[in-house]
Amino acid sequence: MTGGAGFIASHVADLYIEDGWEVTVLDDLSTGRRKNVPAAAEFVECGVNDARARKLLEEGGFTVLNHHAAQMDVRVSVTDPLFDERVNIAGLINLLEGARRGGVRRVVFASSGGVVYGEGDALPHREKALKLPVSPYGVSKLASEYYLAMYAQLHGLEVVPLRYANVYGPRQNPHGEAGVVAIFCSRILRQEPLTVYGDGTQTRDYVFVGDVARANLAATTGPLGRLRSIDDVAFNVGTGVETSVVELARTILNAAGANVPIEHVDARPGELQRSAVDPGKLEAQWSWRPEVGLAEGLQRTYDWIATDQ
Ligand SMILES: NC(=O)c1ccc[n+]([C@@H]2O[C@H](COP(=O)([O-])OP(=O)(O)OC[C@H]3O[C@@H](n4cnc5c(N)ncnc54)[C@H](O)[C@@H]3O)[C@@H](O)[C@H]2O)c1
Repeated sequence: MTGGAGFIASHVADLYIEDGWEVTVLDDLSTGRRKNVPAAAEFVECGVNDARARKLLEEGGFTVLNHHAAQMDVRVSVTDPLFDERVNIAGLINLLEGARRGGVRRVVFASSGGVVYGEGDALPHREKALKLPVSPYGVSKLASEYYLAMYAQLHGLEVVPLRYANVYGPRQNPHGEAGVVAIFCSRILRQEPLTVYGDGTQTRDYVFVGDVARANLAATTGPLGRLRSIDDVAFNVGTGVETSVVELARTILNAAGANVPIEHVDARPGELQRSAVDPGKLEAQWSWRPEVGLAEGLQRTYDWIATDQ
């Protein structure tokens, strides 16, 4: 798997090992940490664009490629869209070329329900909702899903894009789509006020990383339907519940037993007002349901960040 030194994929790697899989983690440690890689996994320090990564997939005898390594910062993608394209699109193609030659059967891919959908349809978004990414990062995730569908048709790979909501939990960093959780926790620990952009009514769908790991396990072996569009093989991974930033801040303050003020500053231009994904398909097809509620998940995240400082 790729990105296994990072936040989400290290939890997926843990669960794979618990489930009896042999795991090789490929990661360039650009945002990940070596200590996140499970001791039982083999570790290869390498970038996804590197010829060594393609060769590893070609010759490694792998059955599954789980691909989480990415340039995952929306703002970086806006300031440096070519860098985003190189890691997220050219990197994916490099891996897929190795995978198809090496006889990999299935590719599980970390896509994003927070950025591929447009704002036109009712919330929570189902897989078939309109797609209209507003950032290079969003375009790279959607384009990746089309590349995967094309490799499925051309080379017979099974492909499963998982469209994550905002993933939070232990080992998360401040840069991802649920980075606000880590930022709020760190500010509380430093006794600093929490900064909220605009009136704080903007919403996101927060899903706990352990639940996301279970969705990956299901996606690794679950039966797949016919592929007629990218949405047929994609699955939302979220709760379907919208939580406002102010509500999130209050729940974290509660978990921390702290009482720092919440400060409002000017809204950020271009920020999505509302976002949530409908996990109904994942539940109907593979009996997946989120198991960790927001208050419990935030408590576990805060406790982890407090001990990691
Ligand atoms: N965190 C979220 O809320 C969220 C939401 C939707 C989708 N995703 C996707 O999930 C995946 C994992 O995200 P995360 O939050 O765990 O981020 P993360 O930064 O913790 O993990 C990414 C990992 O990929 C590695 N990496 C980055 N560029 C690489 C490269 N060129 N070659 C090899 N390794 C490289 C990093 O070192 C890191 O270990 C990403 O694809 C991201 O786009 C995350």
